Amino acid sequence: MAKSILVTGGAGYIGSHTALQLLLGGYNVVVVDNLDNSSEIALQRVKELAGEFASNLAFHKVDLRDRTAVENVFSSTKFDAVIHFAGLKAVGESVQKPLLYYNNNIIGTINLLEVMAAHGCKTLVFSSSATVYGWPKEVPCTEEFPLSAANPYGRTKLFIEEICRDIQHGDAEWKIILLRYFNPVGAHSSGHIGEDPRGIPNNLMPFVQQVAVGRRPHLTVYGNDYKTKDGTGVRDYIHVVDLADGHIAALKKLFAADVGCEVYNLGTGKGTTVLEMVAAFEKASEKKIPLVMAGRRPGDAEVVYASTEKAERELNWKANYGIEEMCRDQWNWASKNPYGYGSPDNKD
Ligand code: NAD
Ligand code: WQD
Repeated sequence: MAKSILVTGGAGYIGSHTALQLLLGGYNVVVVDNLDNSSEIALQRVKELAGEFASNLAFHKVDLRDRTAVENVFSSTKFDAVIHFAGLKAVGESVQKPLLYYNNNIIGTINLLEVMAAHGCKTLVFSSSATVYGWPKEVPCTEEFPLSAANPYGRTKLFIEEICRDIQHGDAEWKIILLRYFNPVGAHSSGHIGEDPRGIPNNLMPFVQQVAVGRRPHLTVYGNDYKTKDGTGVRDYIHVVDLADGHIAALKKLFAADVGCEVYNLGTGKGTTVLEMVAAFEKASEKKIPLVMAGRRPGDAEVVYASTEKAERELNWKANYGIEEMCRDQWNWASKNPYGYGSPDNKD
């Protein structure tokens, strides 16, 4: 029988792409999301893209901090596993509003874990982040690197990782995979789903995309005096569909093996500078991205990229796409949906 997966935050950027890959892989998918940073239209599009599997997707508008609502979802379906994306993710906002981040991300997660345990569903994939490597002393980052947090958002990831390790240590029935994503970019190749952040984008590629469609005049490049080939910061950009497939690989591992609590990097293992990424996007879009050079952004690391060996070896997963495909698909999404899922009127 098809397995049922609860996807928290499934209307969001990574969640919607993962929901689609799950449906296409034959899973039943229930999404819970409070739509705080997303639109239900994303899920309508997922259904359209899922074709014959569309009816295997259900959605409940639920905030994970609403214990009764979460209970009700678990009472209505018996889940084989949970993929937990739901959370706030803006680093700068987390510095301004730490309590909001601790409340939303940590209380939401504790509620979810308690309800899961009460319903005997103890199989979890959690969205962690390369942010837990802080400013790495060397690259590539392996899963054994020391962990640190440079801001409250990062601390929520660290705390939740620790909570997961603790609950699995206390109860061996838990099977947990923590996935540390590097820099997810791009969109589904159809151009029908993609990233649609509220307000001014914090991340590089959503900003570049908004410059390309004329919503912003230029990209500010944060720092061109790093010790890198062109002076700009280096990151490991990963296509969101590769990332989504990484979750299916993680689920397969959880269903097939005695896992305990394991952690895997999801990246490509390749580093790309800001200027290289901009050049790849300009090529894909045939648009010029005006640049303004500025000082370093506080808290930014110089060079971050993943060691992908553990995921390749143990999850049998490897990223397929390079930056050309990432930029091609990002532009396809942007040009078809210059205002994301919304209209120009309700966008900053
Ligand atoms: P996103 O904001 O697009 O998706 C997160 C979703 O969670 C949104 O739809 C939001 O409405 C929902 N949500 C937030 N709080 C909720 C709550 N209390 N109850 C129910 N729903 C809630 O972000 P994303 O980029 O898809 O990220 C998904 C996960 O991956 C997050 O946990 C994020 O921290 C993590 N992550 C993202 C990146 C990245 O660069 N995008 C990198 C590493 C890790
Ligand atoms: C990438 C590069 C910037 C914007 C963040 C979070 C991390 C994770 C992924 C969730 C850097 C430069 C950016 C701009 C720029 N998210 N840049 N101008 O900082 O690697 O990671 O997203 O877990 O936690 O911290 O990603 O996309 O913000 O920046 O020059 O307008 O682009 O300085 O070198 P980052 P990013």
